[in-house]
Amino acid sequence: MSNKIGIIGDGHVGSTVAQQLILTGLVDDLVMIDVNEAKVRADQLDFQDAMANLKHHTTITINDYSALKDADIVISAFGNIELEAGGERFAELNYNRERIGDIAEAIKKSGFNGILLAITNPVDAITNMYQELTGLPRKHVIGTGTLLDTARMKRAVGELMNVDPRSVEGFNLGEHGNSQFTAWSTVKVLEKPVTEVAEAKHLKLEDLNDEIKFGGQTVYKGKQYTNYGISAAVTRLVETIQSDAHTEMPVSNYQGKYGTYLSYPAIVGRDGIIQTVELTLTDEEEKKLQASAATIKEKANK
Ligand code: LAC
Repeated sequence: MSNKIGIIGDGHVGSTVAQQLILTGLVDDLVMIDVNEAKVRADQLDFQDAMANLKHHTTITINDYSALKDADIVISAFGNIELEAGGERFAELNYNRERIGDIAEAIKKSGFNGILLAITNPVDAITNMYQELTGLPRKHVIGTGTLLDTARMKRAVGELMNVDPRSVEGFNLGEHGNSQFTAWSTVKVLEKPVTEVAEAKHLKLEDLNDEIKFGGQTVYKGKQYTNYGISAAVTRLVETIQSDAHTEMPVSNYQGKYGTYLSYPAIVGRDGIIQTVELTLTDEEEKKLQASAATIKEKANK
């Protein structure tokens, strides 16, 4: 069986995700869709020019929603990053809300019945809209959420403790946006709670909060978009789904307790969200999560 994936939006993010999926051999059939026909046609040709020198072959189709019918995964990467210049992902809401109706309708009309992954910002609100508009089961509609912010946290803690970010455990929770937070009670490094390690080393974790939360804005300031971090996050999510790995990941998934899509760890596999887990948060963290959920709901309804 071939692995078929659709990517909607061929901007900085969509094209980098396409490249990463092609290079990792995770996609046999790639469907790229963008309103800029010339750009997506050029990227198709450019990727086809790469095939003779790559290990894995990918067939690339462009701008054909009907080709999504038998796709395993569709990734939404459209948007207008310029609107995020003020450092607020919700600034993209109105622009993206005007477009998501037609896109979701076209996905639905194709008969697509796989897993829909949203990167489009504000991702928690957009993931919720996709689910409602497509009617796909909630467990099959997932936002990349704070999988990326968690990676930023692992980078920051890893640097502070001089360890590989992959040797840092724990989560950033809530909105993939300014109301998110690092749940320090979940973070472990060097086989100990990070709070203990930091205290012993006289390091202040609080000093990292803004660096982590605003990590995307720091990248944005230098190049007016972000692409590599998010591409690695979504590629890992794709690999987890395709291999039915049942990996625990902080992704945007529907959390009934908070009444919205937001990032909270869940077990991810071929059937999407396989199971949710329950964290033991501190009272302060629980309050922050509730506040973040309220922020998502309030801003999405404006
Ligand atoms: C970022 C974008 C994906 O944080 O929101 O890089």
